[in-house]
Amino acid sequence: MRKIAVIGAGYVGLVTAACLADFGNEVICPDSDEERIEALNRLKMPFYEPGLLEIVRRNCAEKRLRFTTSVEEAVAESEVLFIAVGTPATRSGDADLSGVRAVAREIARHMRSYKLIVQKSTVPVGTGAMVRGIVTRYRRGKVPFDVASNPEFLREGSAVENFMRPDRVVIGTWTKKAESILSQIYDPLYLIETPMVKTTVETAELIKYASNVFLASKVSFINEMARLCEVFGADIQVVAKGMGLDRRIGPKFLHAGPGIGGACLPKDTAALLRFAEKAGCRLRVPRAVLEINRSQRDFVFKKIERAVGTFKGKTIGVLGLSFKPETDDIRESPAIHITKRMLSKGAIVKAFDPAAMAAARRVLPAVQYCSNAYDVCEGSTAVVIFTEWNEFRRLDLLRIKGLLKKPVMVDCRNIYEPAELKALGFKYYCVGRAIP
Ligand code: UGA
Repeated sequence: MRKIAVIGAGYVGLVTAACLADFGNEVICPDSDEERIEALNRLKMPFYEPGLLEIVRRNCAEKRLRFTTSVEEAVAESEVLFIAVGTPATRSGDADLSGVRAVAREIARHMRSYKLIVQKSTVPVGTGAMVRGIVTRYRRGKVPFDVASNPEFLREGSAVENFMRPDRVVIGTWTKKAESILSQIYDPLYLIETPMVKTTVETAELIKYASNVFLASKVSFINEMARLCEVFGADIQVVAKGMGLDRRIGPKFLHAGPGIGGACLPKDTAALLRFAEKAGCRLRVPRAVLEINRSQRDFVFKKIERAVGTFKGKTIGVLGLSFKPETDDIRESPAIHITKRMLSKGAIVKAFDPAAMAAARRVLPAVQYCSNAYDVCEGSTAVVIFTEWNEFRRLDLLRIKGLLKKPVMVDCRNIYEPAELKALGFKYYCVGRAIP
């Protein structure tokens, strides 16, 4: 059992704090947002993540997990301090590190005994060294400390599962002591034979970016191939299957769609490009990924425009607003971006999402929010599926056809079969598949 503080009760921090408490550690989780801490103390989660509430509830009840607004208290009580504060993108695409810097200063001012400071949220290569510099400068006397990098690889929607059964754990340290403490924290995962990559702080930091940008490249590659499929009358689903069976390629992250979204892949791609450029290294792949992603949204928007003729005065039904299923996150969501564009062209939009409507309401107040997929379709000129929520996979298509003004469906996630939809009398559009 270790005494751990996870600073920042955001997405990464909260999942990390809850799961580390579940490993049997005593965890304190400070956040400067009083409202959030007060809500967490009432077991109200700030976002939707399957399984998280149960694990928070259990560990709070067993007194292994606590929330506070005081970083000072957390630093005093803990030996290991995970920094999990946000690093939003600035306008130029850089990661904004002011939160990380502020926390490093606070830790330095309050620490009175050895601390292992672990950077958990995604930060540019060199941030570990920066934190070490700040703490050295602001600490009292010569209180000893180490800095480590332990990047998270959590996917929204399956974060608890990803934490408990990761593909790997990356431990970046500069000293044996730090490596040993951090390895011990992940001891429970040795039982399920989780590979541990032990390396330096800089290498660990880069593993995280390289992984995310590679995933973004994989999706962007398949999206470009999807466009080529449309030109040649080929089927992207079969191309992806044929490629994915090669074990060197693998079948995952080869689903064509409206482009990548979320708080991580687009932001990390832009950030990698920026910090590489600042260091004098010109990278081409991440640049192409960002460009493909922008144009993929445009490509899908034009596809919808083609399907409906003109947007002015037409009612468009939208299914799915989150950037992917099983989350209420709408950050960088292609659905939000394209819906905004449709509204600006004079469309009337009706929409439904199983989890993201509250968030969407704040950025798209002009949309008419419905209580299910069928309400969305009633009287709409076309229905557009943006997010592949399970409940959109088995819609009563004949009922949908009866409710729509015209039987037009734009399936941005390729969840239906073109031949089937055609046989039912739909004018069906998808991404990268020939319509027979
Ligand atoms: C991503 C990574 O997958 C995690 O490993 C990483 O830890 C996380 O970022 C992070 O850095 O915190 P996440 O942003 O939750 O996780 O979402 P993904 O599942 O990676 O999906 C990203 C986007 O790519 C979504 O918009 C999704 O719809 C899209 N995508 C994904 C596709 O269009 N096709 C695919 O085949 C896969």
